[in-house]
Amino acid sequence: MSSTFPIILDVDTGIDDSLALLYTAATPEAEIVAVTCVGGNVDARQVERNTRAVMELAGRTDVEVALGRERPLVRPVETTPETHGPQGLGHAELPPPTKPLSDRHAADLFIDEARRRPGEITLVTCGPLTNLALALLREPDLPRLMKGWVLMGGAYRHPGNTAPTTEWNIHCDPDAAKIAFTAWGESAIANGHPRPVALGLDVTEKAKVEPDHIVALARVAGSTPDDSIALARGEDPMRATRSVASNRIVRYVADALRFYMEFHSRYDGFYGAFIHDPLAAAAALDPSLITTRAVAVDVELGGTLTTGETVTDWRGVWGRPPNVDVAVDADADEFLRRFVDRVGRLAAARGT
Ligand code: BDR
Ligand code: CA
Repeated sequence: MSSTFPIILDVDTGIDDSLALLYTAATPEAEIVAVTCVGGNVDARQVERNTRAVMELAGRTDVEVALGRERPLVRPVETTPETHGPQGLGHAELPPPTKPLSDRHAADLFIDEARRRPGEITLVTCGPLTNLALALLREPDLPRLMKGWVLMGGAYRHPGNTAPTTEWNIHCDPDAAKIAFTAWGESAIANGHPRPVALGLDVTEKAKVEPDHIVALARVAGSTPDDSIALARGEDPMRATRSVASNRIVRYVADALRFYMEFHSRYDGFYGAFIHDPLAAAAALDPSLITTRAVAVDVELGGTLTTGETVTDWRGVWGRPPNVDVAVDADADEFLRRFVDRVGRLAAARGT
């Protein structure tokens, strides 16, 4: 495996976070420097257990998994078991992880690794921005020390998924989001390095996985029996029971995604799932998957209805220089093709 693209993933695992981990582990050019954890979809301790278990499923016990701050900077902890299941992995259950959690704090890990390899590492955040904000407060030079920062977060020209105008990752810790957008953006303006690249719901809701994708993934994996066929047809047994696929990664993906699909069927009117975080990871590894526009973005902290909104100055009325490259389009078909192919191949390589 040629490892040419060093990446740190900061996650709140979470169904789609777990798929981002599998996608990155399945991408040959990705070098996963570390995975860091933040509370969000489930509480931070559950996040780190899920993350270690998913990395073991992927066969990546070599990768350090570290925990960061266990609550948002200012606001109370919020989790979303209705979206990701009580443990955060939908209907899936993984064996308890064996590899211990790192004793480094996520924020220190960002700083240490960036100093060790200046200009090399891309940070991909798939959860609330608590750890990144802390790291920026401790090391204001962090944006210059990293190669880039790609985030799943925000709703730019799009309705929110948590409140009418707010997206979950920003909603959970808006104070951290404001610090991160401001500090990274100002450093980009002052030092000429890349701006943060933000994939909001505008593009991540194009990454809509459907039962047929799981069928295709199971086939790439050579998994038998092909119980994902039942999922594709919406037959009762698959909706009611865990996958009996021979391949453990296929079983995991089917069981985790079935919960997400049931959630989207209840709240969004289709039997499928938006896989936000894997698209962000994929775009970090290959920016040609998205089109971006440089704009000034700020985060609302004092709204009575809109706290956590990513307020975006599309018309330039503020007269501020752009601080974020917001994704305005994505090649979702190509991304989904890669997702099926790569995760399917990883599953085949890992075996039963
Ligand atoms: C984001 O919120 C979480 O529920 C998902 O994991 C994703 O990172 C989408 O709004
Ligand atoms: Ca997430």
